[in-house]
Amino acid sequence: MLNRISRRTFLSGSAATIGLGLIPQSLASQKRPRLPIPRLIDGRQGEPVNLTIKNGHWSFMPGVNTATFGFSQEYLGPTIRTRRNSELNLSYHNTLNEDVSVHGHGLHVPGAVDGGPQLEIQPNEYWKPTLSIVQPAATCWYHSHTHGHTGRQVYHGLAGMMIIDDDDSDEMDLPDRYGVDDLPIIIQDKSFDKKGKLIYSLYEAGEDGWYGDTAIINGAINPIAKVPAGKVRLRLLNGANARFYIITFSDNREFYKIATDGGLLEKPVPLKSMEMSPGERCEIIVDLSDGKEADLLTLFEDVFDEEGEGIATTLQNIFKKDTSSNQNHSLKLVVDKSLNANLAPLPERMVSIARPKPKEINRTREFILNMDHETSHTDHSHAHHAMDMTINGAAMDMNVINERVDIGVWERWRIRSNQGAHPFHIHGCSFLIENMEGDTTTADQAGWKDTVVLDDDDWSELIVRFDHIADDSFPYMYHCHILEHEDRGMMGQFTVT
Ligand code: C2O
Ligand code: CU
Ligand code: CU
Repeated sequence: MLNRISRRTFLSGSAATIGLGLIPQSLASQKRPRLPIPRLIDGRQGEPVNLTIKNGHWSFMPGVNTATFGFSQEYLGPTIRTRRNSELNLSYHNTLNEDVSVHGHGLHVPGAVDGGPQLEIQPNEYWKPTLSIVQPAATCWYHSHTHGHTGRQVYHGLAGMMIIDDDDSDEMDLPDRYGVDDLPIIIQDKSFDKKGKLIYSLYEAGEDGWYGDTAIINGAINPIAKVPAGKVRLRLLNGANARFYIITFSDNREFYKIATDGGLLEKPVPLKSMEMSPGERCEIIVDLSDGKEADLLTLFEDVFDEEGEGIATTLQNIFKKDTSSNQNHSLKLVVDKSLNANLAPLPERMVSIARPKPKEINRTREFILNMDHETSHTDHSHAHHAMDMTINGAAMDMNVINERVDIGVWERWRIRSNQGAHPFHIHGCSFLIENMEGDTTTADQAGWKDTVVLDDDDWSELIVRFDHIADDSFPYMYHCHILEHEDRGMMGQFTVT
């Protein structure tokens, strides 16, 4: 999958820059911050999880404060831990001056508690959904899904991680000590003005969406984490608005991918680099028993486009150059021998994934993603408005149900991108990628997913089944997870009954 050279047809207006070395020199020389670890809230016994949606102030760089949003914290939200076959009792209190919807991305829950744009929490109001967690162990997340404002609200901090455990995952000897050898890693990018304040504009975003010029991990630039000299699990979430990342280690060390969006893979897959699109999660295991420090790089994908070379060659070139620039996009893992290490070998088999037989697949639907320039050229000052972002020719309309799906039956969804690369996401389910342009799915993509990448002029077929109700009042969404594409209409609604 990682052999494409250039994925995008359009260059983003705001960020047609190579994603390396953009942090001012003064910052690069400063001491690297500790990786912030969001507080863990244990909701496994059904304890109420109270989250206040609030205004905050956050220092992405030392000495500079900028206005942010957060869930009960200044920026981002706590990690919520829940468990298969338990109830998760959430309570959101909106203390902002604007409406907010909060969606549980990756959760298999009915439309009425899914937190789509129909479920807006008004200022000073509460929303208290109870979620029955029935799905296998996975790394999910929660984030703003407010109609037309998702991009801005997520960018300013309305996102957090959610961890689902189950008996199977407990039995495996995987690193699972939160904040010690099991780390939440939320990867984003931001742009700052000269004073260090966050910059965001939906209308000035380029056609590829809003790109920041600085990589941010859990709200910090170039952080360092102390970890035991053993196996370390990283729960990676691409929580960026629009950017695709290449994830790799600066010493090119091998790591194991153990989970996709919807849970564990059948077996660990060894990799040296991988791509992550907005919305996606990957759990990886890296072995630090050699005691050496490891630099996890979160590289902006544009660098590969600009150099016009295959990824392997480009990486080699990057490593040969002065690596100080790479450190602007890294999480340094430093071994602390005083911490108890998990040295257990990785399980050879983790879970089994039951695929439906071809004859069990009931029907096929097609979704065509379009970015159209042709429609209205009358007002050039608003060229960005003139671009239509549609699925099957229609932009998101809260009053229109685009698809009606029967509950509990397998379907094939054929997704196609006419222009540009898009991470296509479906609510209320996990799906399997059946093929990508007719090619069989690679081992590292062969698990449960809820987001699939369509490259420019590319198609993919998914196998999907919905087991929960989403009626006309609380339909599910499918959409592009580039948040500026979503906010501009590349989204549709569907019911499951
Ligand atoms: Cu993470 Cu509808 O989104
Ligand atoms: Cu979602
Ligand atoms: Cu898109």
